[in-house]
Amino acid sequence: MIIAVDGPTASGKGTIARALAEHFALPVLDTGLLYRAVGYQTQLDHGDADDAADALAACDFPASLLGDPALRYETTGGLASRVSVHPQVRAALFQRQRDFANQPGGAVLDGRDIGTVIAPHADAKLFVTASAEERARRRHAELVSRGVEVGYDVVLADIHARDARDTGRADAPLLRATDADLLDTGDLTIGGAVQRAIALVEARLSRRSM
Ligand code: C5P
Repeated sequence: MIIAVDGPTASGKGTIARALAEHFALPVLDTGLLYRAVGYQTQLDHGDADDAADALAACDFPASLLGDPALRYETTGGLASRVSVHPQVRAALFQRQRDFANQPGGAVLDGRDIGTVIAPHADAKLFVTASAEERARRRHAELVSRGVEVGYDVVLADIHARDARDTGRADAPLLRATDADLLDTGDLTIGGAVQRAIALVEARLSRRSM
């Protein structure tokens, strides 16, 4: 069984994907981490994230980089969003994601184009979202709790910039697949969002088996 979880930054899709993986006993891949690794490797190489050749060269990042805490930094998320615009980078990361999705037994993947490009054949697809203001509020609270000094307005502006880049790019833009269930986490607690996600996937699976 393949479950695709897509949505914009700070929508809660990562938490939901991990919870679904645990519930259905499936392996999970956070595909954003791959783009983050490429963005960060481009910087380590003193390359330019907006340059397709520099970003493509960074796709050969060492596997150990995936465990680097720097991949979680806000600045790395910005670099990831810039390198992910290049079709060459998306092509270089494609097979790895598709192979993960198609492994025996199935998998959960979260990202921006899982239901549309990587696993259009997924058994269940969720498009997880919330308003930009709500996502900025969550991201801001998370940063403050980690001791990062940043204003809410700065975080909101960054969310708007990332949304514009992710939805506006020509290749594999952030898009709700026509057969994806919409899950707005705006008014939900984390536990509530997870319960709703499980219910949506189970409903999808029971419809498929009818
Ligand atoms: O999900 P996360 O915020 O870690 O992703 C970082 C960036 O990587 C996103 O803003 C997006 O530009 C890019 N990305 C993508 N396709 C994916 C996953 C992430 O373009 N499947």
